[in-house]
Amino acid sequence: MPAPDLFSPVQLGLIHAPNRALMAPMTRCRASTGGVPNPLNAAYYAQRASAGLIISEATMVSPLSLAYPNIPGIFTTAQTDGWRLVTDAVHRAGGRIVNQLWHAGRTAHPDAIAASPVAPSPIAAKGNASTADGPKPHATPRALETGEVPLIVEQFRAAALNAKLAGFDGVELHAANGYLLDQFLRDGTNRRTDSFGGTAHNRARLVLQAAQAAVDVWGPGRVGVRFSPSGTFNDMSDSDPRATFSTAVTLLDALPLAYVHIYEADSADIRHGATDPVPVGYFRQFTRHVLVVNGQYTLDRARDVLGRGHADAVAFGKPFIANPDLPRRLQAGAPLNTPNPETFYAVGAVGYTDYPALP
Ligand SMILES: Cc1cc2nc3c(=O)[nH]c(=O)nc-3n(C[C@H](O)[C@H](O)[C@H](O)COP(=O)(O)O)c2cc1C
Repeated sequence: MPAPDLFSPVQLGLIHAPNRALMAPMTRCRASTGGVPNPLNAAYYAQRASAGLIISEATMVSPLSLAYPNIPGIFTTAQTDGWRLVTDAVHRAGGRIVNQLWHAGRTAHPDAIAASPVAPSPIAAKGNASTADGPKPHATPRALETGEVPLIVEQFRAAALNAKLAGFDGVELHAANGYLLDQFLRDGTNRRTDSFGGTAHNRARLVLQAAQAAVDVWGPGRVGVRFSPSGTFNDMSDSDPRATFSTAVTLLDALPLAYVHIYEADSADIRHGATDPVPVGYFRQFTRHVLVVNGQYTLDRARDVLGRGHADAVAFGKPFIANPDLPRRLQAGAPLNTPNPETFYAVGAVGYTDYPALP
């Protein structure tokens, strides 16, 4: 069989993607008060409806997840209603969108959440948290009691249900980039001695239970899970990423997921100590699921990874910020607009909905 083309369709479980160029999840800090999505957010996502699948920005499952200003949630009725504007606009424009469900864990700051952030173990991240008053050093989190962990699973379950009520096509669990699920997975942040710590199997228990809860809500083929095995963002590390993440991916094979999504290390991760990044192709042998990869992809690299059979689809992040019509541009070999990092997390339409599409 010839290798699939980036512009050929793919089934992500029950989600039919008309092409394999997906939009990676990206926080843009433009939700309204109370973490409520608004018409500007709907316009932004609808402009990008030609993605094979849009993965929404990380969306709080709990008020304790507030790690950046003006980020959306999916734990209140107002937030759920706000997301309905987004899903309706994307669907009207012919697209598909899943909601990235997220708990920030230790990266939330006490100033924002009026409480201690929670984590597997009381280990502060090096570096600064984003607060309304600017960057402040990360706080030492409070370790969740064993009896509290099921409440986190229930927050993911409730969020998955709200995402369904909001009209999404599915959900993606954010188990990457140093947030709560990832903090449980990796031994740099998880020093627990209960059934959620120690072995890779135990450390994967929370993500497995959260994924099961999401599958309970959504049924088969509508839930994805995102990992960053070699990512160092948010001061993350693991003594054996191959073992940790192959265990997690293998355990998830028991669930009827839509896809597994792997973020690859970039040059910053390598500068921060990812000396032996796990190649994306490594995970193929552990999963029967559709594999999505992401990180610094260009058209050529995307064709190469699909051609080698290392992945089934490629998620593009920054290129989708600046090119609302990215699949069409890639297919036509048209020039790409350059994203402006200064407006990644800014307020309003500038650098958000004003990047031009091809005529
Ligand atoms: C502005 C911005 C916001 C991001 N927010 C998220 C997020 O909410 N959830 C997530 O999993 N990754 C997030 N990421 C990481 C991207 O999904 C992606 O992994 C990264 O940009 C690398 O892909 P790229 O080289 O195609 O941009 C973000 C990246 C950027 C640039």
